[in-house]
Amino acid sequence: MCGIVGFAGNKTACGKPLEVCMQGLKRLEYRGYDSAGVALAAAGMDTVAVRKKSGRLANLAADIERSPMPDATVGIGHTRWATNGEPSDVNAHPHTSQDGKIAIIHNGIIENAETLRLDLQTEGYTFLSATDTEVAAKLLGKIANTIIEETGKPDLFEALRRMARMLTGAFTILAVDVRQPDIVVGARHDSPLVVGLGDGENFLGSDVAAFVAYTKEAMELDQDQAVCISGDTVTVTDFDGNPVTDSKRFTVDWDASASEKGGWDSFMDKEIHEEPAAVHNTLLGRFNEDGEIKLDELHIDPEVFKQIDKIIVVACGTASYAGMVAKYAIEHWVRIPVEVELAHEFRYRDPILTPRTLVVAISQSGETMDTLMAVRHAREQGSRVLAICNTQGSTIPRESDAVLYTHAGPEIAVASTKAFVAQIVAAYLLGLYFAQVKNTLYRDEIHQILDQLKAMPEKIQWVLDNDVEPIEEAAKKLLDAKSFLFLGRHVGYPVAMEGALKLKEIAYTFTEGFAAGELKHGPIALVEPGEPVVIIVPSSRGRNVLHNKVISAIEEVKARGAFTVVVAEVGDPDAEKYADVVFWRPECATLLSPLVDVVPLHLFAFDLAKLKGYDVDKPRNLAKSVTVE
Ligand code: M6R
Repeated sequence: MCGIVGFAGNKTACGKPLEVCMQGLKRLEYRGYDSAGVALAAAGMDTVAVRKKSGRLANLAADIERSPMPDATVGIGHTRWATNGEPSDVNAHPHTSQDGKIAIIHNGIIENAETLRLDLQTEGYTFLSATDTEVAAKLLGKIANTIIEETGKPDLFEALRRMARMLTGAFTILAVDVRQPDIVVGARHDSPLVVGLGDGENFLGSDVAAFVAYTKEAMELDQDQAVCISGDTVTVTDFDGNPVTDSKRFTVDWDASASEKGGWDSFMDKEIHEEPAAVHNTLLGRFNEDGEIKLDELHIDPEVFKQIDKIIVVACGTASYAGMVAKYAIEHWVRIPVEVELAHEFRYRDPILTPRTLVVAISQSGETMDTLMAVRHAREQGSRVLAICNTQGSTIPRESDAVLYTHAGPEIAVASTKAFVAQIVAAYLLGLYFAQVKNTLYRDEIHQILDQLKAMPEKIQWVLDNDVEPIEEAAKKLLDAKSFLFLGRHVGYPVAMEGALKLKEIAYTFTEGFAAGELKHGPIALVEPGEPVVIIVPSSRGRNVLHNKVISAIEEVKARGAFTVVVAEVGDPDAEKYADVVFWRPECATLLSPLVDVVPLHLFAFDLAKLKGYDVDKPRNLAKSVTVE
């Protein structure tokens, strides 16, 4: 939540700081889009130049176009997801110190802001906004002036560290000061911040998307660290000022073009069409021709895996549904219990965690605060944590014992799509690795499953190529539907939940996804003539019993007048008989079917939202990275 960018580089004032901030904000807008703003500083300025506007970044860009901002040497930019104070021009970031010499931007929630505000008010400080960030801006200004009185010279870096020690809650704060127009300083506590390392210029960002257009060399910052960048230097310390010299560097493994629409109308459409590549790339290099899984990147001794007797998956939203899918496969292959828990519920129920429990944290962004808190709790209790994550340099992998990256490429649309299929694949690789080290599957069985997985990108592409018409037809017919029910069984159950979530979040439709077996235990009362019911039908091959049971469920809702949309294996005569619309999918093994079944559901939500005229990439009230609890 909230996107942050900072730039330091120019010896003489020019337009680059503003250009970098606006470019960065464009790429970070998915993190929040309630308002946006920038602050620039250069030698000779009496106060920082600040411009901010409520609404999308385009509003800010138009305002700057109408009335250009001055050249500068450093800049900071912010795109906001409001937590504290309504979205408005005045509440937008940056906020400034009382004398206007310092500007700050902030991501997170400062929990002791009200106490600090009262203290500052009694000292005569005045506030324009309702935000916790303005409290920090005024406080930083006060501390910076105290340091000048003490030492005779400005030291924004020290001022920020002193303030960081006083704040409680979660924060990433960046600041600039016209008295030191060659540096940008930052501090992070429970909120993301990465450094971009350029040639004669350096960057700060909530994630690497902020600066990937300028450099792919990056450096992680750890919890409770502060950073000061100039064009030529990057200095990291803890909040007490002790130098940190072992920050981890990495190279971003995707190009700036991957975070652009590249001819597509929306990121969501592009990302759904990248689902085959997300599966393919996540499999790449993880096993050899003999079907031996190679996960050396985990850096966990296979002996440790052998000892694991329980897996708990912690995740939120779509990532949790990927975890639910994985449960079916891993329990079947490895014969150890797999629990799946919403991360925000996990630590509050006093879960049973032992050194033999492996906690698997699934997160596209790697920044979801609920999941991060679950990770910390699990480690405190002595369990090992393995992250399945799509974002290099993010916090969850950094705080986990091991990480298995999904290689879906940057996911920009708020609705998660390609990350879902990549997460399933990564979790399946983990399951197969367990089966390999624990000898619960024969080598040729693993080989066979890997071959099936390798074939999945093509099968997903088949759905993308062949289901366009029925999906569009269903979306048109159901445009005015007030609610939807989604039903699935076995691995189709989490797929139903995922399909339902997509409709809620981008088409703003009341939708419930549930296990088809529950139908007669209550939900069928909701079915009245015309009610759309979307059903995922398992193949009639293999788990025939399940197929027949789900077909019975279709008959039952059909008998009550439901409009049935059915996802079924090509040529399934039963599905055709009871469906008003069918989304066909190619034949595949039951455990792998979520990888294809979910694709028409992603497309359906997309089509419906588009027909309703909604912004599919930036649905209302949401942000891509949920970095507050
Ligand atoms: O970044 P994460 O995978 O941790 O995010 C988890 C959820 O916030 C996320 O999947 C959310 O539910 C999506 N907007 C769903 O499309």
